[in-house]
Amino acid sequence: MRYPLTTDDRGEVVLRVVPQLSQINTNGHIFGGWILSQMDIAGGIVAGRIADGAVATVAIESMKFISPMLVGDIVSVYAREERRGRTSVGVRVDVVAIRGSEQQQVDLTSGLFTFVALDENHRPRPLPSA
Ligand SMILES: CC(C)(COP(=O)(O)OP(=O)(O)OC[C@H]1O[C@@H](n2cnc3c(N)ncnc32)[C@H](O)[C@@H]1OP(=O)(O)O)[C@@H](O)C(=O)NCCC(=O)NCCS
Repeated sequence: MRYPLTTDDRGEVVLRVVPQLSQINTNGHIFGGWILSQMDIAGGIVAGRIADGAVATVAIESMKFISPMLVGDIVSVYAREERRGRTSVGVRVDVVAIRGSEQQQVDLTSGLFTFVALDENHRPRPLPSA
């Protein structure tokens, strides 16, 4: 993927969040695990819509931390369907910050999250037809 991303690359904004001081690591950056959890939530929303029900994250691929997230960033989490299987859907999730008084856009992270549609026994279930 080439950066900076275009609006078409990113898909829709699913979450907009503002990291807090409690999410800072010892470098003064926002903790990567917190960012990952926001991405998982956003991807799960898109996948749940496609699956029309419960989904579970089965894999995270090609996760890339492009630049650090800083306190004061206004963070948008974008997600879009990238691939669809029988029971699983791959959702590309990109995180972008709006930074500083100049409202600079900074690409922060990107990853491909795979979600599996679940039945009532927590086992894979076929996706509804598109
Ligand atoms: C998700 C889960 C039900 C899948 O069970 P499973 O026995 O591995 O299921 P399958 O082997 O039939 O695979 C189901 C689908 O996932 C895909 N999949 C499985 N492992 C994968 C991996 N490492 N990467 C990408 N896709 C994967 C399969 O290709 C298949 O997709 P398809 O039907 O579209 O072809 C099971 O692994 C599980 O419960 N994992 C824990 C989920 C969890 O707790 N997530 C964190 C919180 S949400």
